Amino acid sequence: MASRFSRATAFGFVAAALLSVAVVAEPGDAPDRKPDDWLLNAPDDAARFKLLQRYLRGFDQPMWEVGERFESIYDALTDENYELAAYHWEKIRTTIVNGYLKRPKRQANADALFVNGAYQPVLDGFRSKDRDKAWDAFELARNTCQSCHEAEKVGFINNQPLFRKAPPQQK
Ligand code: HEC
Repeated sequence: MASRFSRATAFGFVAAALLSVAVVAEPGDAPDRKPDDWLLNAPDDAARFKLLQRYLRGFDQPMWEVGERFESIYDALTDENYELAAYHWEKIRTTIVNGYLKRPKRQANADALFVNGAYQPVLDGFRSKDRDKAWDAFELARNTCQSCHEAEKVGFINNQPLFRKAPPQQK
């Protein structure tokens, strides 16, 4: 009895010692213990990529940025800050192209109407730093946005104040 007890006690001590070594030796090596490690906690890389895909959304979030930047273009032209208008226009292109990376079915119309369509003429209009040419470019840009919304069957997007912003001389 006594020897069985002491064997068990000895085993307990060894197990406890091993456990404490494990805890001390690998303090940060259990990422699945932290609730905030939303990617590291996933069982494998396929599951991680799925989480990333979901988190990075579809076409709506890039379009939200595009809308913000388009409004900034209007303000930049009002301020006659043509460099800023051109800057936002370039970022809009990046954002749309990154957007169809995620939603390939949007690419055909985006390329036809925007990337290979109005993009360069609008950029040239802003870069001209000529007030009338820049506002003409703004109108061309706006028409292009709206055409793509029609083509993509989201025409309701066009019915909002952002697309009613007109060049000052037309107010
Ligand atoms: C592929 C053609 C295409 C082009 C070019 C395009 N859009 Fe869009 N836009 C869409 C689609 C499709 C949606 C709806 C997104 C969705 O269904 O998730 C959208 C949605 C939007 C939204 C609503 C986003 C939100 O969720 O708040 C805004 C604002 C917008 N677009 C602005 C613009 C502006 C400004 C331009 C021009 C500089 C532009 N878009 C050019 C296709 C386009």
